[in-house]
Amino acid sequence: MPAMPRTRGSEKQSIVLGVTGASGAIFARRMRQMLEADTRVGKIHLVISGSGLKVLREELAIDVAKSAEIPALLAAGRTPKTAYLLDSDVGASIASGSYRVDGMVIIPCSTGCLAQVAHGISSTLIERAADVCLKEGRKLILAIRDAPFSRVHLENMLRAQAAGADIFPIIPAFYHRPQSIDDLVTQFCCRVLAHLGLEQRQQFRWSGESPSRRGKTHHQDTETQRD
Ligand SMILES: Cc1cc2nc3c(=O)[nH]c(=O)nc-3n(C[C@H](O)[C@H](O)[C@H](O)COP(=O)(O)O)c2cc1C
Repeated sequence: MPAMPRTRGSEKQSIVLGVTGASGAIFARRMRQMLEADTRVGKIHLVISGSGLKVLREELAIDVAKSAEIPALLAAGRTPKTAYLLDSDVGASIASGSYRVDGMVIIPCSTGCLAQVAHGISSTLIERAADVCLKEGRKLILAIRDAPFSRVHLENMLRAQAAGADIFPIIPAFYHRPQSIDDLVTQFCCRVLAHLGLEQRQQFRWSGESPSRRGKTHHQDTETQRD
């Protein structure tokens, strides 16, 4: 079992956010925003693969030519906690197990990245940081997106899961009755963050009754996590 993010008293968490070239850049953007807004998180190490940049351009119309501006463009706001690292920089801090991080999320995670992680091939910083999480027993969440999955994909998921990764495919829920894509994406990110030990107040929790029968929708309670 991979370790839960360690709590060190009041010390804030350090999270690696990997973004690879699968469809679903909107999930990466929301994850960035939620991590940035979460006062329990002190540092975000953001790494985007070359294909990930291509998808950001396609799906969010982000101008990826200006490298220094990418974190702000992806978060659509200020990014004081974020260190933006190049995927080619395999000598960066997070490439070493001696550097402390509390967990890593790759969202979206391409099936190519899954294959690399499942086989311990660390040719990029994202792959190496994921490999480090596995060897150090730290939380690693792979938000894979593709459809349909081939047998190779499924076997790689089993392999990565057996090595300690959490396979968290981008399959949103609908029982909270999302009113918008934004709502759907936010709730999915809430589930991922809860898995990382960062439960969000705005997460919808099923209690045996649909939101309307409870007399309110969860949209009336979408406060950003601050504690
Ligand atoms: C617009 C676009 C959408 C893509 N969507 C997916 C996808 O949903 N899932 C996937 O596994 N690969 C997808 N790919 C292919 C990957 O980007 C490609 O396999 C790439 O080599 C992955 O490299 P990376 O893991 O270093 O980002 C997409 C590529 C493009 C350009």
